[in-house]
Amino acid sequence: MQNQNLDAYWMPFTANRQFKNNPRMLTRAEGMYYYSDSGAKILDGTAGLWCCNAGHGYDEITHAVTHQLSTLDYAPSFQLGHPIAFEFADRLKQITPPEFDHVFFTGSGSESVDTALKIALAYHRARGDAGRTRLIGRERGYHGVGFGGISVGGIVNNRRNFGSLLTGVDHLPHTHNLDKNAYSKGQPHWGGHLADELESIVALHGAETIAAVIVEPVAGSTGVLIPPIGYLQRLREICTKHGILLIFDEVITGFGRLGTPFAVDYFGVTPDLFTTAKGLTNGVIPMGAVFVQNHIHDAFMGGPEEAIELFHGYTYSGHPAACAAGIATLNVYEKHRLLHKGPELEKTWEQHIHALKGTKHIKDIRTIGLIAGIELDSRDGKVGARAYEVFVKCYEAGVLIRVTGDIIALSPPLIISEGEMKTLVDTLQDIISSTP
Ligand SMILES: Cc1ncc(COP(=O)(O)O)c(C=O)c1O
Repeated sequence: MQNQNLDAYWMPFTANRQFKNNPRMLTRAEGMYYYSDSGAKILDGTAGLWCCNAGHGYDEITHAVTHQLSTLDYAPSFQLGHPIAFEFADRLKQITPPEFDHVFFTGSGSESVDTALKIALAYHRARGDAGRTRLIGRERGYHGVGFGGISVGGIVNNRRNFGSLLTGVDHLPHTHNLDKNAYSKGQPHWGGHLADELESIVALHGAETIAAVIVEPVAGSTGVLIPPIGYLQRLREICTKHGILLIFDEVITGFGRLGTPFAVDYFGVTPDLFTTAKGLTNGVIPMGAVFVQNHIHDAFMGGPEEAIELFHGYTYSGHPAACAAGIATLNVYEKHRLLHKGPELEKTWEQHIHALKGTKHIKDIRTIGLIAGIELDSRDGKVGARAYEVFVKCYEAGVLIRVTGDIIALSPPLIISEGEMKTLVDTLQDIISSTP
């Protein structure tokens, strides 16, 4: 391992040259822990990349995938079917709210987002409302890396690097405001009115041109931005009033992250579509899924029976091995009641994380479900440098965290114990306070 050549693999979202000079190699995982090539045990504070919600190394998932691969390794899903994809769809239907009886399978979160946006556009066309072509996202939104996702997302680097993106897109303002909402536990009180900005966007462009609004119920990748009380409800009301579809991107909030199966359940707000991936298979095999309300699905089913209703799909939609991983993952979630950990989980987590208040460099701590954002003061002219140093030192001390700019994002597997929460917090406290 020591002398392995690292040159050929162009790593994603990574400072390749910096990494390859000082690599961090994970070679094994079990329960709450990764193990590195040097044998170090590393507490997983991020559920991989917000995806291994049940933790690592479940034999039942491994066996289900192995069995599936030895029976039917791959089968096309265009004009052909295989039973396990239908079985998985049916199982998922049992855990989604009753309005969502249909699911479209994809290969990732980015594909789920592009799929949801395309369904929204095609839905309006199917109903003879073809003028609705605009998509509305939000500043600081992250919706993966497809052209649709980066267009509705609100990350300036995507615009800097990849040009003008999809046309006809506009953005709501983000809701993050430390003057009003610092150190929030659960939903912040200030900011629900920011949803009314959607009315201004509607007034500017005309409701008849807008197909859909997409938001993450809790924005994760841009630094844990939690929706203010009433905000999502208000978005729902305005969308309904103007015939605009509401899409929740639940790629990180799905599958127990907030103590409920989905953010839809946590916030009690029902979008028209919601996207998932990651925890769908516990991160074991890449897969995504888009859930649609029945009225969306049914709008496509009126034409001639021989017509393909949605001109969209992926080679790996409903991949048998991914479906096997997904069904086994649902069994694990059910066996350990991981999708219903509820308010106790949130309270315990909140108490531990907010104990960091007062630590040098920390200017905000925000928590919801089993998610935390810890925002640090930035060094002059070097945004992100302090948090990156904290990330490297934590790794060396046996704790995996994730950083974006100077914000630390935590999202451990749902099986984390109180002792492990304490280890996470103690390590962070030592390292943040001793980092210049
Ligand atoms: C909200 C959200 N949407 C979409 C994605 C993209 O998912 P993927 O990396 O599987 O394409 C992510 C990934 O972190 C995400 O957080």
